[in-house]
Amino acid sequence: MQHSEQVQIIESLMQHLDRGTNVDAGCQVRNPVTGYTSQEIAEQEWQSFFQDHAQVLGLSSDLPEPCSFFTSDDLGKKILCTRDKDGQFHAFLNVCRHRGTIVENEPRGKKSIFSCPFHGWSYAPSGELIAVPKEEHFGPVDRECHSLVALPAEERYGMLWVHPRQDASLEVDDQLGDLAAEFDGWNLGKYNYQGLTTYDHPMNWKLAIDTFGETYHFGTLHRNTLAQDFYGNVQTYDTYKRNHRMMLCLKSIDAMRDQPKDDWHVLRAALPVYYIFPNVQLIIGAGGPTLVRVYPDGKNPHMSRSQISFYLDPAFSEQEEPRSPRTDYDIEDVKQRMQGFAEVIRDEDYVVAAAAHQGAVSGAQEYVTFGRNEPALHHYHNTYREALGMPPLEVISN
Ligand code: FES
Ligand SMILES: [Fe+2]
Repeated sequence: MQHSEQVQIIESLMQHLDRGTNVDAGCQVRNPVTGYTSQEIAEQEWQSFFQDHAQVLGLSSDLPEPCSFFTSDDLGKKILCTRDKDGQFHAFLNVCRHRGTIVENEPRGKKSIFSCPFHGWSYAPSGELIAVPKEEHFGPVDRECHSLVALPAEERYGMLWVHPRQDASLEVDDQLGDLAAEFDGWNLGKYNYQGLTTYDHPMNWKLAIDTFGETYHFGTLHRNTLAQDFYGNVQTYDTYKRNHRMMLCLKSIDAMRDQPKDDWHVLRAALPVYYIFPNVQLIIGAGGPTLVRVYPDGKNPHMSRSQISFYLDPAFSEQEEPRSPRTDYDIEDVKQRMQGFAEVIRDEDYVVAAAAHQGAVSGAQEYVTFGRNEPALHHYHNTYREALGMPPLEVISN
């Protein structure tokens, strides 16, 4: 990110602090609770957002070296992601071309051969069928026609993009708009994968997404956790096509008031939270990014799964000197913060979000209200609705 834009963001946050204001969507809107409970909408979303739409399945370091792999089960089909011997990223349907069982059952690891557990047909990380046991008994198998079925896959801006439909095309730049250049600047490919936490919750997937969309709740729900480090209800907000960027205000912004602007660094003052349509939150934390992917449980509007993966700035292990403005922290402290963040999501955000799902099915009210200080919620839901051909949310005049 250009330094001038960093200064602009920091000044905007300081201005909100000084004036006691926050970002303003200009109006309140009403979101019908059927958006969270309707079977019909859930089915449309599953098809349109999760079957017919490109997905981010990880960052580059989910596949740290040649022959690394991971599997995914979140899109209603078994997917195998690999890095081949030359380092090229691939995604396949994780289905054996013999009798169709699942080839790789481990969640992640490193293999130069994927051997099917049923009869042992074996595939290279590039997808080719390379061995058929007892072929003299089985009969000849045309290798060319029996590779793993490839899905459109691209490694762009340090992210692993996959389209779950094999005949689709990936249009990452078109999807990201101006965010593409910004992601390029973050150099997301350099971070080291640290682990994955999975949460299953009885709530609509959009209620999980909504918890990331405002800091209005920090002073109450997170008063003993995140509110220690953040000024709640103070943020910036920018949209990029169907995606967005929020800058959350860190209390460490205060130290910048005494520093020359040339020394300002946005990560000292703010936590960037990017939303990538339809289901990804990318948070650029002090020690490295956190990637949150939220999935509905297929067409079920009442269950969802969050996959939260953590990545660490390599400067911590390499002891780069001078350290970048973001790595002047103790590594153990950073790891603890990452774990603590996942626990805050589980123990605070997702507890109230699952309770809000119960509220939605209770019939207590027909809609929930998104305030002027919650522009991301306006944008998420208007975007979903527009993508499904529904009218925008009702604006409340006041
Ligand atoms: S089903 Fe895979 S080898 Fe037979
Ligand atoms: Fe929260």
